Amino acid sequence: MTPKVTVARVLLPAGSAPLARKYEVTEGGLDCTREELLTIVPGSSALVADPTVPVDEEVIAAAGEGLRVIANFAVGYDNVDLAAAEAAGVPVTNTPDVLTDATAELAAGLAFAAARGIPERERLLREGGWTGWDPGGFRGIELSGSTVGVVGMGRIGTRFSEIIAGTAGRIVYWSRSEKPGPERELGAERMELDELLACSDLVSLHLAATGDNRNMFDADRIEAMKHGAILVNTARGSLVDAQAVADALRSGQLGAAGLDVFENEPEVPDCLLEAPNAVLTPHIGSATFRARDEMARTVARNVIAVLEGEEPPNPVTT
Ligand code: GLV
Repeated sequence: MTPKVTVARVLLPAGSAPLARKYEVTEGGLDCTREELLTIVPGSSALVADPTVPVDEEVIAAAGEGLRVIANFAVGYDNVDLAAAEAAGVPVTNTPDVLTDATAELAAGLAFAAARGIPERERLLREGGWTGWDPGGFRGIELSGSTVGVVGMGRIGTRFSEIIAGTAGRIVYWSRSEKPGPERELGAERMELDELLACSDLVSLHLAATGDNRNMFDADRIEAMKHGAILVNTARGSLVDAQAVADALRSGQLGAAGLDVFENEPEVPDCLLEAPNAVLTPHIGSATFRARDEMARTVARNVIAVLEGEEPPNPVTT
């Protein structure tokens, strides 16, 4: 019997075409609800998920004994219950590397956009609110020579550091392990988180979300940042306390923020929508033509490897 591959939502043709050549592919569609997923997943050999699809014990059990791989269309995999997958003996794969450039570029874009209030100024101009060139008007934050704090110096944090290095005066980082590459190439200095927060003009988050780091950037951590600094988050919404960010934007403790991710997407808390100097984008870190096509191909490569009895190229290891 042809193995069944269930795509919880949709997979771009770069990934679905190679899968459809070998397997029976069922897609839940962009609006697939959990109930619908539970009805289409039984009998699947592979399940393709994405960050919006919780894959837990119930989904894995619904898929049945024949499930051989959970392929996540993302580098992050906090939507997958790894313990449940392991208990069921099902490997989990992700799509690293191919979205590194795209996500790091967005983080840099958000930093510059937030520093200069580009979206707000643009809206004002479109609404006819620009009354003339004003030496004192529309002033923003200059990043040249600034200290940039990178929280999480993995692949994306490193690429972000390379991109921002031409502007930053100094790059400091906080990471579980020492990163000789960025230290050697960019002069990046590893330090304790509090020390980083106290000296950084711009803090950019590049950490995986885990059960332990929810609201890592709460009111206390934001208070520990340099007054008027910029916070950029292209990692996961759960890392920051949205209300604390909004309060700090209002008080001026945060000079600006660039946020691409939110805890309960696609909901964006009103406090952030109403906060000044916040640039908010709809989780588009990896949304370039190149990255998304490569992510789809990577998903297909992982599914095919497992279903053909080989090791997947991108197993998730914790
Ligand atoms: C997207 O959010 C990803 O983790 O790849």
